[in-house]
Amino acid sequence: MTEPLGARLRAAIGVDVPIVQSGMAGVAVPELVAAVSNAGGLGVMASLRLEPDAVRAAIRRVRESTDKPFGVNIWLHDDVRTSPDPASIPDDVVRGSQAVLNEFRPQFDLPTTLDCPAAAVDLVDAALDVMIDERIPVFSAGVGIPESELVERFHAVGTKVICMVATVEDGRAAVANGADGVIAQGSESGGHRSYGSKLAEQHQAAGESSLVLVPAMVDAVGSDVPVLGAGGIVDARGLAAMTALGADGVLMGTRFVATKESGAAQMWKDRLTSGDRATTLTDGFTGQWARVLSTTFTEAWEDSGAEALPGLLQSAAGSDVFGAAKKAGDDQLQPLYAGAAVSQLSDIPSAFDLVGEMAAEAKAILGQA
Ligand SMILES: Cc1cc2nc3c(=O)[nH]c(=O)nc-3n(C[C@H](O)[C@H](O)[C@H](O)COP(=O)(O)O)c2cc1C
Repeated sequence: MTEPLGARLRAAIGVDVPIVQSGMAGVAVPELVAAVSNAGGLGVMASLRLEPDAVRAAIRRVRESTDKPFGVNIWLHDDVRTSPDPASIPDDVVRGSQAVLNEFRPQFDLPTTLDCPAAAVDLVDAALDVMIDERIPVFSAGVGIPESELVERFHAVGTKVICMVATVEDGRAAVANGADGVIAQGSESGGHRSYGSKLAEQHQAAGESSLVLVPAMVDAVGSDVPVLGAGGIVDARGLAAMTALGADGVLMGTRFVATKESGAAQMWKDRLTSGDRATTLTDGFTGQWARVLSTTFTEAWEDSGAEALPGLLQSAAGSDVFGAAKKAGDDQLQPLYAGAAVSQLSDIPSAFDLVGEMAAEAKAILGQA
């Protein structure tokens, strides 16, 4: 290992420490983003389903707390940008999905229903316009690849573009479209699988582990752009291991959920740091495959054999149940996104300290201290 840790990422996006914190709705609040960036990493705000004014306000709040580079993330998934027409969904699919949700509605005094929810309004283009107008330092695309026209619009205002992908083919496509960096998302990852359209089968959607995907991605695109490893990394050993596989740094989600500055509820942070933490891949919460803690809901959903509503309509269908569970602090009936390495977590540190300590420890492991 001849290059100092993170040298290529520093050159590409101007961060001192090769640790990127994932955009995570409700979790990656401006306080977390600024803490990570102030520690020398790249904090990334999430903007999915935020109204344009809220995206702008959050960007400005980050800017008030840091003068270091930060990113803004959004999903570019086909079904998110163009919501499927609810009328096109077969009745039995709607009824099957609602029947599972109906099992839990009485628990929160919610009325049962067998109707299809209304389509969500597409807010992606409006959010992208705000990011370009605000000339953010880094745009982070997930769950879909930015087309070259979009990359050019960002580059024209000086914004770097990084893109998370789960296959080598998508990595090549992102680079061909002009991306400045690629994040290789292994199957261990918490949250949603980073594909631009839904893969029908759970086993296909799981994808390759980080150990398999990261070196393959490095070989495919690493000579053109920096590659970051994601999925199952929670400490300096993970960062050092990814470096040994040829990656230029890491992106972490789960580890940052359980930090002091994260916007996650205390119950979620506690569930990530103690007790039984088996994870599973489910499409029962949003309609898209995501890794979460295994709970009463994920088991009932799996046992039912119900088909998820397409797009984010599944999320709309279950919003009353999941929202009520969140309000009540219930840990069984709301999505608690978590990666496979969650079982290694035992503390809730400050994100600022975590970034600095992880980088220093990784350097020591790599003999660069
Ligand atoms: C709570 C949570 C929310 C997430 N939200 C997003 C998101 O909004 N956009 C995105 O591109 N990825 C999102 N991800 C996925 C991460 O980008 C990344 O693939 C994953 O966290 C890496 O694996 P790890 O959780 O083991 O660190 C989320 C992950 C978690 C755990």
